[in-house]
Amino acid sequence: MSVVILDFGSQYTHLIARRLRELRVYTVVLPGGAAPAEIERHQPEALILSGGPSSVFDPGAVRPHPEVLERGLPVLGICYGMQFLAQHFGGRVERSGRAEYGKALLTSYQGPLFAGLEGEVQVWMSHADAVTALPPGWQVVAQTAENPVAAIQDASGRLFGVQFHPEVAHTPKGMEILENFLAAAGVERSWTPGHALDAALDEVRAKAAGERVLLAVSGGVDSSTLALLLARAGVEHSAVFVDHGLLRLGEREEVERALSAAGVNLITVDARSRFLKALAGVSDPEQKRKIIGREFIAVFKEEARRLGPFRFLAQGTLYPDVIESAGGAGAANIKSHHNVGGLPAELGFELLEPFRFLFKDEVRELGLLLGLPDTIRLRHPFPGPGLAIRIIGPVDEEKLEILRRADDIFISALKDHGLYDEVWQALAVLTPVRSVGVTGDERRYGYVLALRAVTSSDGMTADWARLPHEFLDEVARKIPQRIPQIGRVVYDLTSKPPGTIEWE
Ligand code: XMP
Repeated sequence: MSVVILDFGSQYTHLIARRLRELRVYTVVLPGGAAPAEIERHQPEALILSGGPSSVFDPGAVRPHPEVLERGLPVLGICYGMQFLAQHFGGRVERSGRAEYGKALLTSYQGPLFAGLEGEVQVWMSHADAVTALPPGWQVVAQTAENPVAAIQDASGRLFGVQFHPEVAHTPKGMEILENFLAAAGVERSWTPGHALDAALDEVRAKAAGERVLLAVSGGVDSSTLALLLARAGVEHSAVFVDHGLLRLGEREEVERALSAAGVNLITVDARSRFLKALAGVSDPEQKRKIIGREFIAVFKEEARRLGPFRFLAQGTLYPDVIESAGGAGAANIKSHHNVGGLPAELGFELLEPFRFLFKDEVRELGLLLGLPDTIRLRHPFPGPGLAIRIIGPVDEEKLEILRRADDIFISALKDHGLYDEVWQALAVLTPVRSVGVTGDERRYGYVLALRAVTSSDGMTADWARLPHEFLDEVARKIPQRIPQIGRVVYDLTSKPPGTIEWE
């Protein structure tokens, strides 16, 4: 059972899915023009028609397949979705002549969609067309000062339209409105992480039982959880972990311990010297990334050949990756964000992506159910090129050792002070700048180390974290004391934008 969202290209479609999952409803996003059979496969209890950039007047606008609305499913149309419903059932939509963007207040509201709401209801508008005549039997159930038709409902109480966006934070009571729609539609709200685990296990077993599966483990939460899932499903798998020498202190051992203990067939490839050699003397960050990506694929391919043949390559692709790349109008060109992205075609693998309908926090829940230790499950994001992009200038073993130890002091202190989970990402950057200092009577030149910690919700924008001065003081004293090659410690006060999170 599910709710199917038909996507007409709104930038907020993934948010609708996110909100419904928060309301414990299994939700699938399909292209706006999806075939009825494709929709049926997900056994929907209700449909949501998303907003989108098109106008119902555009001849090229994507529309739902005509049979889809004949099944009598409850429907909520949002923005373009509402205009489509109005037009489809015989109402009139017109260019309002005046686009309405931003916050608005509902001047009146009534009916099941607004049940339980009281007082001021603020909503977020973003549209140019407006419904000017209702289909027969429909009624207006909300208005704003600018817009006499802000929400509509049909006579059966199963079809609804809202001109505003209930899914965004600027509609503070949007969750209640979505909840009311689910109640009116009689949708069962029973989706739990346990269901997600069962569904993922079923999928893996159904597809890959009796087959061999290859997987690249990075030590991050997605690939580690995927490895545990394959082990739990009992399918024959090889989980390849490439140690490129750019990992943090103790990271390799931690991953090995956690995954092996859970029955994962983990194969660690020690490629440290190969990566160091390839990176020798390279300063340009993009060049570093290219080299690391190239070497990774080469090492992974060698292992695939050595351990193979495999029918499947398992990847921890997440839902936002799939939605972001759906191209709005429904082209299902799934872009891979993974290092091994080019490999399936080249090596003839079929893809196994059991997390492609899950969000990051849902994968964390799955990790919890599968026994992934919190040290890995709740870890900050860590870039694929690892510490190589946190050493400004050329990378060598001595600098890696300095940075690993400094990073460990910073991260351990954050954990000891209960601050680790308060920040989205924290890191140390080893700069090539040497500054003067005094130790005893001696003048000494040491590296400048930059500490960076940011708060963020998705890494797209970020603010520097207001860590307590006493805490920063403690870390800034500890680092040069324990690592004599570091002479000075600074804290980065740049937000994103204009800065990025990493320095390279
Ligand atoms: P920036 O530095 O662009 O980083 O603000 C945003 C997020 O992306 C991570 N990042 C990377 N991850 N390969 C990755 O896998 C990369 O080359 C890379 N560069 C940045 C960064 O750590 C942050 O979480």
